[in-house]
Amino acid sequence: MRRARTPRTPFRLPRITTALAAVPLALTAAVVPAAAAPAPAAEHATTERADRGHHGRDTLRDAAPKGFFIGTAVAGGGHHAEQPYADPFAYDVEYRDRMAREFNSLSAENQMKWEYIHPTRDFYNFYPADAIVRYAQENRQVVRGHTLLWHSQNPAWLEEGDFSDEELREILHEHITTVVGRYAGRIQQWDVANEIFDENGEYREENIWIRELGPGIVADAFRWAHEADPRAKLFFNDYGVESINAKSDAYYALIQDLKADGVPVHGFAPQSHLSTRYGFPGDLQANLQRFADLGLETAITELDVRMDLPEGGEPTAAQQAQQADYYRRALQACLGVDTCNSFTIWGFTDRYSWVPVFFPAEGSATVMTEDYERKPAYHALQDTLRSVRGKR
Ligand code: XIL
Repeated sequence: MRRARTPRTPFRLPRITTALAAVPLALTAAVVPAAAAPAPAAEHATTERADRGHHGRDTLRDAAPKGFFIGTAVAGGGHHAEQPYADPFAYDVEYRDRMAREFNSLSAENQMKWEYIHPTRDFYNFYPADAIVRYAQENRQVVRGHTLLWHSQNPAWLEEGDFSDEELREILHEHITTVVGRYAGRIQQWDVANEIFDENGEYREENIWIRELGPGIVADAFRWAHEADPRAKLFFNDYGVESINAKSDAYYALIQDLKADGVPVHGFAPQSHLSTRYGFPGDLQANLQRFADLGLETAITELDVRMDLPEGGEPTAAQQAQQADYYRRALQACLGVDTCNSFTIWGFTDRYSWVPVFFPAEGSATVMTEDYERKPAYHALQDTLRSVRGKR
């Protein structure tokens, strides 16, 4: 059996790239040569390969059935930049270590979003994204790319620029070609279009691309991404589409139209940011199944389960049990659908979760405490994976 290839880069990187990653981005970004992109491998890592070297470990990736990808978001950028800690991916050795041992899929939490990877019109900062892709290669993990066409976390030069339609179209084309092309062969799934519909299933007005260029730009984005990396699976990604509802119906209709037109759309993913304030979306599996029946891959891409914390901030045993139940049911829903092979949680430790920053009064949304203690939710995932190992 072949081993995953070591990336060919102009300079040799230590296995833990902490020292390098710690150099201020403005500086490194300018000096990272284009050739520093991780080299494409002959094929994507498989779970079998991903497991090798991890035998005997009591982790989620060890528990996963063959061909199933259990992932996490890689902390960095976004809300992290305003927190009183250094970049987790660069500095928290325990974090990096656990991420390698627990998961065989990684998603860039912010590092591939426009405002990070394309901060000025003529400049791409590939440094943080390159570091993730390289780390994934070293640890035999696949990568989900996130995201190419979105209304949020766009740089000011783009949102406030005074571009003609033609220029705007070319800006998107160039961005997709450059970013997707750079990681071609190294990204298993791309969230090409993120959150394009509102809860009524109408195109979002805030989306600069759709507002300025019309909804046809969505098809172009998929076509351009496919040209740049014909092997990457191209996804729609959104929140609030766990259930069968107006929003997921809009995707269901749009995807059928796009497929009829020969547009390379391969997948549909409910992000699954859940809260115990609301009931579990009991029709999640049925919803995934109807997209699978269209010939699509499906995935859970950003699962977390937030809750209202009692005074003192510690969830009660009952709350922990309820959260574990949500995690278990989300995983079971995915495992119950043939084409759902990728299941990603949006961070694995409360230490770096976006939840307390974005949802005041809610928290404890991930599967490990701030000190990396495994919660009942962690064990729910592990037990569920084990129960299907060998059977799927
Ligand atoms: C969030 C990140 O977790 C934060 O760090 C950032 O400040 C804002 O974005 N849907 C998505 C993700 O598609 O990109 C969002 O991630 C969470 C909601």
